[in-house]
Amino acid sequence: MFETLTAPAPDKIIELIGKFAADPRSDKVDLGIGVYKDADGNTPVLRAVKAAEQRLWQEQTTKTYLDVTGDRTFVSGMAGLIFGDAVPAERIGGAQTPGGTGAVRQLLELVRRARPGAKVWMSDPTWPNHPAIVKYLGLMVATHRYYDAAAGAVDFDGMIADLKGAARGDVVILHGCCHNPTGANLSHAQWAAVTDLLEDSGVVPLVDLAYQGFGDGVDEDVAGLRHLAGRLPEVMVAASCSKNLGLYRDRVGAAFVVCPDAAAAAIAQGNLGALNRLNFSFPPDHGAKVVSIILHDPALKAEWLSELEDMRTNMLTLRKALAEALRRESNSDRFDYIAVHRGMFTQLGGTVEKVTALREDHGIYMVGAGRINIAGLPADGMEKLAKAILAVGI
Ligand code: LMR
Repeated sequence: MFETLTAPAPDKIIELIGKFAADPRSDKVDLGIGVYKDADGNTPVLRAVKAAEQRLWQEQTTKTYLDVTGDRTFVSGMAGLIFGDAVPAERIGGAQTPGGTGAVRQLLELVRRARPGAKVWMSDPTWPNHPAIVKYLGLMVATHRYYDAAAGAVDFDGMIADLKGAARGDVVILHGCCHNPTGANLSHAQWAAVTDLLEDSGVVPLVDLAYQGFGDGVDEDVAGLRHLAGRLPEVMVAASCSKNLGLYRDRVGAAFVVCPDAAAAAIAQGNLGALNRLNFSFPPDHGAKVVSIILHDPALKAEWLSELEDMRTNMLTLRKALAEALRRESNSDRFDYIAVHRGMFTQLGGTVEKVTALREDHGIYMVGAGRINIAGLPADGMEKLAKAILAVGI
C-alpha cells in the first residue's frame, strides 16, 4: 500500500529547525520558527503556567473525558479574553482545539461542511500553512495584495481592490494582529474599512489570532477583531495559546464562530464538536485546563499579563535596536519600518539566494523572503547582524 506514497514537500519553517540544529557553528543565530526566547535564548515555562500546573496537580481528581468541545471553562474564558463585551456570549459557538493550527483546520472543515468548494482568500504573503490546509481540504485559494515591500507597510489600496473581487459565500483569512510573516498590521481605520467591505459583500472573515498580546497589548491587539465581530453577522476566530502563554507543545487553541443568533451559534458549536469527534475525538486537556485556571484566577491572570507584557516590550526593544543598527550601518532610513512593525515577525525582503547566503556564509537563519523572529535577535550582536544583512545585499 504505502509504496504509492512519495516524500512530502518539506514544510519550510519546520525544515529550518533541523538545519539550525545540525549547524555546528557556535555563533549561529536562529531567527526562524516563531518561538519566544528570553535574553539567554531560552523559552521558559511562564510563572503563571507553573503555578497553575502545580494547582492542577494538587487538585485534579480525575482525567476522565470532558465534553467533545473541550473544557467549557476554558472556552468561555478564551471567549471573554478575545471578544470582551463586543458580542453577546449566546451568539458565540466555541470549541477547544489542539493549538491554533487545530482551530484553523477545524474552522476550515466547518466551512467545507457548510459550503463545499468555497473560495478562501488570504493575504499574499501569509503563513504557509493557510494555503496548505485550504488546498488539502479541497477548498479554493485566492490571494489579495497585502504588503508593499518597498514601503515596508500594508498595501491597503491593493488589499481592498482585490477583496472587492470576493463574493458572498467566500471566506477571507485575516491576521488578528502581528501579521505573519510581514509584521505590518492594519490600523483601526483600516479594520473599520475592511468591516464595511465585508458587511457589504457578505464575505465571512476567519480571523487567525495567534499572537494576542505580542503587538500593542492584550486588548489593543483584538480591537479590530472586536469591531468586526460587533458589526458582522458571522465571524470565525482561530485562537492560539502557544505564544502568549508559551504552551507551544501542549497544543492549546480554540475555534469560535460568531453567529447571527443563539440558535445558529448552538448549531455551529455542535458541528465543531462533531468535527472534533471525527478528527481526534476529545481535545487534549492539560494545557487548556492550565489556561482556564489562569483566566479565572485574578492573581494568576495578573501575573500572566505582566509576563506577557514583558515579552511584548522585550521584542519592541529588540526591534528598535535592529532598526537603529541597520540605520547606522546602512547610513539610510530604509529599515526604519522594522521599528514600526509589531509582533513577533518582520519581513526583511531578501531573495531566496540572499537568505541562503545569510544562512550559509553567516550562520543566520530566517524563513522565506527574510522573515525574522524578533525574539531571536541577539541583543549584544546587532551590529554584526546588521553588517551581515547588508553584506548579502538585502
Ligand atoms: C511560525 O510561523 O513560525 C509559527 O506560527 C510556528 C509554526 O507552526 O509555523
